[in-house]
Amino acid sequence: MDKITVVGAGNVGATAAQRVAEKELARQVVLIDIAEGVPQGKGLDQFQSAPIEGFDSRVIGTNGYEESAGSGIYIVTAGIARKPGMSRDDLLTTNAGIVRQVSENIARVSPDAIIIMVSNPLDVMSYVAMKASGFTRERVIGMAGVLDTARYRAFLAMELDVSVEDIQAMVLGGHGDTMVPLISYTTVSGIPVTQLMDRAKLDAIVDRTRNGGAEIVKFLKTGSAYYAPSAGAVQMAEAIVKDKKRILPCAAWLQGEYGMRDLFLGVPVKLGRNGMEGIIEVELTDDERAALQKSADAVLEPMALV
Ligand code: APR
Repeated sequence: MDKITVVGAGNVGATAAQRVAEKELARQVVLIDIAEGVPQGKGLDQFQSAPIEGFDSRVIGTNGYEESAGSGIYIVTAGIARKPGMSRDDLLTTNAGIVRQVSENIARVSPDAIIIMVSNPLDVMSYVAMKASGFTRERVIGMAGVLDTARYRAFLAMELDVSVEDIQAMVLGGHGDTMVPLISYTTVSGIPVTQLMDRAKLDAIVDRTRNGGAEIVKFLKTGSAYYAPSAGAVQMAEAIVKDKKRILPCAAWLQGEYGMRDLFLGVPVKLGRNGMEGIIEVELTDDERAALQKSADAVLEPMALV
């Protein structure tokens, strides 16, 4: 790809830009932020790591959108991060305003781009971006499920003392306390996890996953997680750039899938060069279906406010 732009040069955005460059997913990586000097400084610093790391993606930082014109993908991380005690929904109004303005600029300079939304509250910000950009649902995708699933997989690997690579799992629903880790689809190299762990341990891990973001915020005190969130966004970008047709849990605009419509919710999505190329409807137990509905309700309520 010619150009990938990351909007927001804070913790998540800058780390994402560095990961995109190190993987050489685009010839040029553009870092945009409103803070004067910050994207320029970080972009230059990152490109100075290129001779050492051995990548040829040119990283530049800017305060405007013109330099990003023609980007194939925008990873949007602009906004304010969650502080201790703050729920994701507390961020709603401020971040909605920011994401609206960012999305209008993206549509203006890169009308064919794909937006990977990262700013929280994720599901609602994805909706704001789709509305403000006027893009089709194929080209606005939210990064949440990849992160929540990574947290779940990491906790399972720690508990079972096995490779993270051998844990397959899927966390659906909204990016919040109502997310839905699917135990019935959790396997270790194909072995149902329920054969390897008792239910009480599994429930504790599910619970820890649901509070995975808050656990980090409590440690950091002045910010929220960024290594895993940036890795999640870049995995999605890679699937698109390489047209890999990966099946990853992402926030997608539902149009009847799972019996729901007109909201962003985490579901298994096929990612390829056209962005969201399909939604896979998996069979759910009655409990999982009820949990997904509860999750949808938690997304619909704040959505009405933007
Ligand atoms: N345009 C561009 N950048 C903006 C704008 C804007 N209108 N408004 C704010 N920013 C920038 C800030 O200047 C800051 O550099 O967004 C950046 C956000 O960075 P951090 O505060 O470090 O937050 P970060 O931890 O990166 O999280 C960003 O991702 O995971 C989510 O919940 C998180 O919504 C938050 C987002």
